[in-house]
Amino acid sequence: MDDVYLDNNATTRIDPQVLAAMLPFLTEQFANPSSAHGSGEAAAAALRRARGQVRALLGAASDQEIVFTSGGTEADNTAIASALETQPMRRKVIVSAVEHPAVLAFCDHLQRRQGVIVSRIPVDRRGRLDRDAYREALGPGTAIASIMWANNETGTINDIEALAEEAHACGALFHTDAVQAVGRLPIDLRGSSIDMLSLSGHKLHGPKGIGALFVRKGVRLSPLLHGGKQERGRRAGTENVPGIVGLGEAAALAADRIGEDAVRLRALRDALERGVTRAIEGATILGDPIARLPNTSCIAFENAEAEPILLGLSHFGIAASSGSACGSGSMEPSHVLRAMAVPYRSVHGAIRFSFARDNRIEDVERVLDRLPSIVARARQVSPLAAMPMAAE
Ligand SMILES: Cc1ncc(COP(=O)(O)O)c(C=O)c1O
Repeated sequence: MDDVYLDNNATTRIDPQVLAAMLPFLTEQFANPSSAHGSGEAAAAALRRARGQVRALLGAASDQEIVFTSGGTEADNTAIASALETQPMRRKVIVSAVEHPAVLAFCDHLQRRQGVIVSRIPVDRRGRLDRDAYREALGPGTAIASIMWANNETGTINDIEALAEEAHACGALFHTDAVQAVGRLPIDLRGSSIDMLSLSGHKLHGPKGIGALFVRKGVRLSPLLHGGKQERGRRAGTENVPGIVGLGEAAALAADRIGEDAVRLRALRDALERGVTRAIEGATILGDPIARLPNTSCIAFENAEAEPILLGLSHFGIAASSGSACGSGSMEPSHVLRAMAVPYRSVHGAIRFSFARDNRIEDVERVLDRLPSIVARARQVSPLAAMPMAAE
């Protein structure tokens, strides 16, 4: 077990209060919420409570706007598939080049299998969407624009409300993958132009395998899964009651703590970045310096590769990641960093540190203690160090 866990954008530790809320629904309160008896009604009541807790965190107008899913991936797939299905005359989807694979790989699939036109909008060096290219891509054939609220690798935040308004101006729907934003940034959907929003339990100290799709009242939703009438016919399958209860509790905790957490996490992150850039030459903070999640720091070390750095950190019980967890295993620079045109000498040595409310300043101190020598050793073994500048 790592004792310094700084990989909270991959997943977070389940909060003890969340676990306690879930346990009865894994043991004695096991009934099916669709069953017409007392125990079934108790399970249905637990779902209603959780739906209210998620609605409150999002500032949504009605509990009926929350559809529980198996996670962020299913919510993203549902939103995009539904937009195409409910608007058969519109065959184009607009996404950013730095979306999570839950959006990008699904769009690739739709393009290959259904001939859907997919516009992948570039980003700038800070990871922010190219607004001119976005406006140009929008048109009468656009079914939906799906742009993430905050990026999982760099933490860069998009101006989501403005993007949603521009999508509406051409009659398109707007969806945002807010998996990394929910619980970390204040969200108020009541007066917003966002039509659909995805979230995931395990990024906010809830359980894995549960998430939700916000669907604004009046927006038609065509289900991805067909079967029973659960979720008012919008998502078939017996509800994951313990997971939903856990998500609800995690949402309630996040709503209580969001302001306080943001201040603490930003201070930890800034301490890490200050220490690293002071102690290590050729270290660049990636992402937007201001419009960035308070918990995320992606640092590129010139002339080094990520793998020996991660192994070195892991040797001292420190967990971080390179790019997204889904991309790890291959040492190719991630699609996000490539889209941001991070220079060749730095892109291979990008490490993501992501904080959560269980981190302490001692964790930062441990990293600052070990990282300079780990990076120095990684540079010694890197083929990049020997590469002449002209080879870039
Ligand atoms: C931005 C983003 N979208 C979607 C997902 C997928 O969520 P889930 O793991 O709940 O399917 C993740 C998870 O890493 C993510 O970071």
